[in-house]
Amino acid sequence: MIPIDLSNKKALVTGSSSGLGAQIAKYLAKAGAQVAIHYHKEEKEAQDIANDIMKEQTKVDIFQADISDITQVEKLFKEINEKMGGLDILVNNAGIDGKRVYCVDSDPAEWENVIKINLFGPYYCAKEALKIMIPQKSGVIIQITSVHEFIPWSGYSAYCCSKSALSMLTKTLAQEVADDNIRVISVAPGAIATPINEKVWKNPLGLTDLENKIPMKRVGKSEEVANLVVFLTSDLASYITGTTIPIDGGMLIYPDFRHGG
Ligand code: BGC
Repeated sequence: MIPIDLSNKKALVTGSSSGLGAQIAKYLAKAGAQVAIHYHKEEKEAQDIANDIMKEQTKVDIFQADISDITQVEKLFKEINEKMGGLDILVNNAGIDGKRVYCVDSDPAEWENVIKINLFGPYYCAKEALKIMIPQKSGVIIQITSVHEFIPWSGYSAYCCSKSALSMLTKTLAQEVADDNIRVISVAPGAIATPINEKVWKNPLGLTDLENKIPMKRVGKSEEVANLVVFLTSDLASYITGTTIPIDGGMLIYPDFRHGG
């Protein structure tokens, strides 16, 4: 049997009060990691996820912070270090897609807000996590990007730009810390059924339109993304760094070309 064992690993998953983040936190815990749940506003949901995890695992900590604010992020990591005594895994998952609006009509403040949460947030968290990981000479940082680090998406220019830039942050950080035994990897999900896109997949027309963009003809499950994150954070992935692993049912392989060019 090939083992995946994250026991003795301490992991923080940002935005883990719902959706992908919650599932990732649960699966890291299932693999043995001591998990920190982070939320911004959904305190009750964060507590529910922690209770769920505690059915199998004894220790789960919950932390609140607005990751787009460096002062709050510094405080968050100080608290994590004090409470958990280190950090081995950071999953930069928290993010928003923002309101769908063409660039020409967009509100610069809303555009900036998406970039602050999706790009500055992971940058601040990575910066603070590395202050812990570099001295201990080990760690893994996973950045949850999106297929939209590659695929343009009309009406979501800030989201696409944030994810594309986050992918470059992954590569640059990976280069900076590879010889400190720290790996930095992007995971780029396609359409995964979570609250962020439920308006689309819960509507039959929206679902069909979405499935037509996916060669595997189905939206993904958050468990499938969580499995990938567990693998990438484990020693089984010890030679993977500075790259993006898409998990998208084939969305990136130009499905319209199935029927000829
Ligand atoms: C978005 C989803 C969307 C998917 C595929 C993700 O990054 O969050 O809303 O369904 O990309 O377009």
